[in-house]
Amino acid sequence: MVVVNFVCIFLVSVLILTPRVNSEPVQDKQALLAFISNVKHENRVQWNSSTSACDWVGVECDGSRSFVYSLRLPGVALIGSIPLNTIGRLSQLRVLSLRANRLSGEIPADFSNLTRLHSLYLQGNEFTGPFPLSVTGLTRLTRLDLSSNNFTGLIPLDVNNLTSLTRLFLQNNKFSGSLPSIDSDGLTDFNVSNNNLTGSIPDSLSKFPESSFAGNPGLCGGPLRPCNPVPPSPAPPTTSGGNSKKLSTGAIIAIAVGSAIVALLFLSLFLIVCLCKRKRRPPKRIPVTATIQADEAGTSSSKDDITGGSKEVERMNKLVFSEGGDYRFDLEDLLRASAEMLGKGGAGTSYKVVLAEGRTVVVKRLKDVAVSKREFDMKMKMLGKIQHENVVPFRAFYYTQYEKLLVSDFMPDGSLSARLHGRRALGREPLHWNHRMRIALSVARGLAHLHGSGNTVHGNIKSSNILLRPDHEACVSDFSLNSLFCNTTSPSRTKGYRAPEVIETRKVTFKSDVYSFGVLLLELLTGRAPDQALTGEEGIDLPLWVQSVVREECAAEVFDVELMTQDSIDEEMVQLLQIAMDCISIMPDRRPAMSEVVRMIEDTTNGGSGTEI
Ligand SMILES: *[C@@H]1O[C@H](CO)[C@@H](O)[C@H](O)[C@H]1NC(C)=O
Ligand SMILES: *[C@@H]1O[C@H](CO)[C@@H](O)[C@H](O)[C@H]1NC(C)=O
Ligand SMILES: *[C@@H]1O[C@H](CO)[C@@H](O)[C@H](O)[C@H]1NC(C)=O
Ligand SMILES: *[C@@H]1O[C@H](CO)[C@@H](O)[C@H](O)[C@H]1NC(C)=O
Ligand SMILES: *[C@@H]1O[C@H](CO)[C@@H](O)[C@H](O)[C@H]1NC(C)=O
Ligand SMILES: *[C@@H]1O[C@H](CO)[C@@H](O)[C@H](O)[C@H]1NC(C)=O
Repeated sequence: MVVVNFVCIFLVSVLILTPRVNSEPVQDKQALLAFISNVKHENRVQWNSSTSACDWVGVECDGSRSFVYSLRLPGVALIGSIPLNTIGRLSQLRVLSLRANRLSGEIPADFSNLTRLHSLYLQGNEFTGPFPLSVTGLTRLTRLDLSSNNFTGLIPLDVNNLTSLTRLFLQNNKFSGSLPSIDSDGLTDFNVSNNNLTGSIPDSLSKFPESSFAGNPGLCGGPLRPCNPVPPSPAPPTTSGGNSKKLSTGAIIAIAVGSAIVALLFLSLFLIVCLCKRKRRPPKRIPVTATIQADEAGTSSSKDDITGGSKEVERMNKLVFSEGGDYRFDLEDLLRASAEMLGKGGAGTSYKVVLAEGRTVVVKRLKDVAVSKREFDMKMKMLGKIQHENVVPFRAFYYTQYEKLLVSDFMPDGSLSARLHGRRALGREPLHWNHRMRIALSVARGLAHLHGSGNTVHGNIKSSNILLRPDHEACVSDFSLNSLFCNTTSPSRTKGYRAPEVIETRKVTFKSDVYSFGVLLLELLTGRAPDQALTGEEGIDLPLWVQSVVREECAAEVFDVELMTQDSIDEEMVQLLQIAMDCISIMPDRRPAMSEVVRMIEDTTNGGSGTEI
């Protein structure tokens, strides 16, 4: 336990100390500074104007740190009204939480410019005035919480303009008048209790429970007492604002039909692919000692060994470390330590190695490396430079004629594959939707970094290469090793994740990575493993299976049963499914770039934050 804790702390500190690109959302920063300097608060919010706004408390930026993506300042004793021209200028904001403060006055009119907002949490303040009409133009809003304030006046029919809304909380205010017929097709939660509403509850809202309406002395009908003999007040005309869902389902079906036809052609090819089953038999040590010690003793006189670098250093420590890590161990430490086999893949066998000092690393013993030492060195040095919080860095490597080793960080929380498919029967914690969403977003960001500033194709995306961090984010590992092997895409290695064109061209590309990522999204959504499905009773691959089920208009059956116990997330799931479908387009040109995928997921998610009530 102590060891594990040490590793956790170590990993966290490595991740925090990793130098990041110091880009900065300049305009958003000015808006935030204008806000904080014009609103009284206790000293819990200390934003240092000489550091990047993305690193401030409560502020989250997008992957490329070019805009502020969410602002969360719950319970920090903000006092007074929100000035115009402050938060309203954060034009890319997706999530705003200012709940549980002492903010008062009206909601500023320029909130209407927060057109990308998904979630607005203003509950538990002292806001006054009418229902903020500036908010009813935010068509992407899915969660609106204005509860426990001092709002007055009518609840306007304009609420129906919020066609994406799934949760509306207005309880504990002073709203009065009659309830408009709010279109409740997409609404999963609705609460107007403890206001001063009168008249009858419109039919569209009567599906909600009594406690959604309680505490309004003049309200009747629906789940409350019947309105007779008092004639019900005439309900305002209904508007239809809820057909966006139908449209998007239609779009999915259209896409599914189109791509499924082409996908059928590839089915037979997929079926030919053979599978290598994993065996887990943990040996005590990495079984390389003999050959390496022979190398050390100088018996190896391979001509490969003429490399740059001092001979002396090389004899003492043949491990070559990447820049930026603070690892201090040598080969002997590695070989003396106890090792546990983690898994066997197409690239080689991985071991978990606990060093004497308590640090744990993963050592991958590569097989069938087909490049010279010089090429290997160059490649590994390049890959060692790639630093991103969602990429597992290579820390060190070792190359001789007989052994090729790769050292990287050990992630104690294991792989997504193990988390998702590991022994469901044995009381495993279900993987919640918000966590899955966060995994999807962080993996997308890691890949976008590899593709972007890393200019590197991953080439081997699968759930066992996605490693989880204790903070619910995920990292991609084992990237770009394909070019080290003679057979660049051995069929067993990527299995059900491989893009159709890769079977012919045998070349992985940025776009084939996007396809594999799409399959990974399907795996997150369905809880099914693509390679299992390949050999499974149905004998079909995951993309094809999903496409066929969606085509038959039972999209809900696609999703993991584990997700079905949580309400009000269907909309996000459908959106993520749509993104996955885009990624698995048969035509590579039709697939979005990874950076675009990041943006699309950011637009869907509330940042994996969970519901904030
Ligand atoms: C703000 O950050 C700079 C640079 O990181 C540091 O030198 C300075 O002391 C910080 N100021 C405050 C008030 O924390
Ligand atoms: C919204 O932004 C535009 C352009 O930035 C600005 O002209 C307009 O006044 C803003 N709207 C409100 C209500 O402040
Ligand atoms: C709400 O307004 C009333 C007066 O209209 C005031 O007495 C009360 O303190 C206010 N409540 C809050 C939480 O601000
Ligand atoms: C809501 O939509 C209706 C019809 O499109 C429009 O007339 C009205 O101005 C909108 N309300 C707001 C507050 O944007
Ligand atoms: C409730 O609304 C009625 C008018 O609809 C008003 O006369 C009354 O004062 C309101 N009560 C409270 C507590 O605000
Ligand atoms: C509505 O809000 C009231 C007051 O906060 C709460 O007691 C009740 O349980 C809520 N009902 C629903 C259905 O959320």
